[in-house]
Amino acid sequence: MTFLKLKPLTLEQLNAVVELDQLCFGGLWTRSGYERELESPNSQLLILEAASEQGESGFQAPLSEVLTQNSPTADSETAPNRTNALIGLGCYWSILEEAHITILAVHPDYQHQGLGQLLLYALLRDAKKRRLEWATLEVKPSNQAALSLYQKFGFIEAGRRRRYYKDTGEDALILWRGGLQKQDFEEMLANCYQQAHQRLHYCGWQLSHFRESRDGE
Ligand SMILES: CC(C)(COP(=O)(O)OP(=O)(O)OC[C@H]1O[C@@H](n2cnc3c(N)ncnc32)[C@H](O)[C@@H]1OP(=O)(O)O)[C@@H](O)C(=O)NCCC(=O)NCCS
Repeated sequence: MTFLKLKPLTLEQLNAVVELDQLCFGGLWTRSGYERELESPNSQLLILEAASEQGESGFQAPLSEVLTQNSPTADSETAPNRTNALIGLGCYWSILEEAHITILAVHPDYQHQGLGQLLLYALLRDAKKRRLEWATLEVKPSNQAALSLYQKFGFIEAGRRRRYYKDTGEDALILWRGGLQKQDFEEMLANCYQQAHQRLHYCGWQLSHFRESRDGE
């Protein structure tokens, strides 16, 4: 069983997070961009870390090496028992009453296991705890995986930004989810968590550490 930790990004993980960003988005944010996020009190940046049983020693091994070990196809009998890998990240900015989700990504080798759902759950739960009222984000209309995930959490289309994405020239859909402080949102969050948790367990993950806020709130 591989342990899964959900926690705020720290300086030590900057190289790994830039590597994951490159893999998932082709370099959306630079290293200095992530450094700025770390410094900003309005930015909540969470990471998912996979750790083997003896993997508490740090974050030093190259991602590719660690991922081979943690990949579902890896031979667990022969793989060395080592260290942690960053396999997911999610970020939102709190702007007045709004949670603006800026990044959500899961390493391609680890998708379809419930990790994206867990990350989005954690971002929204954190936003709710911070008393924010609604969440919003931009997404490519062609990104069916992301659209479906956001719809699951009750996001609806609220508009479009024309030719927003420089790489493809695509419009951005603006998605919006209100009512973060309402009771039905709490229930929806609990259901989404439960579903992700069961799926992750089925896929061999154990959630060993769950901390959203940098200050440990
Ligand atoms: C979007 C993303 C984060 C989803 O992560 P994931 O770990 O694969 O998602 P999960 O396994 O938690 O799936 C949760 C839900 O997402 C949706 N989903 C995920 N992959 C999907 C796919 N290939 N097709 C359709 N829906 C999909 C489904 O609604 C799914 O729930 P279901 O299986 O009960 O139908 C992931 O595909 C990713 O990192 N993509 C690249 C980066 C990106 O585009 N980020 C979004 C920017 S706005």
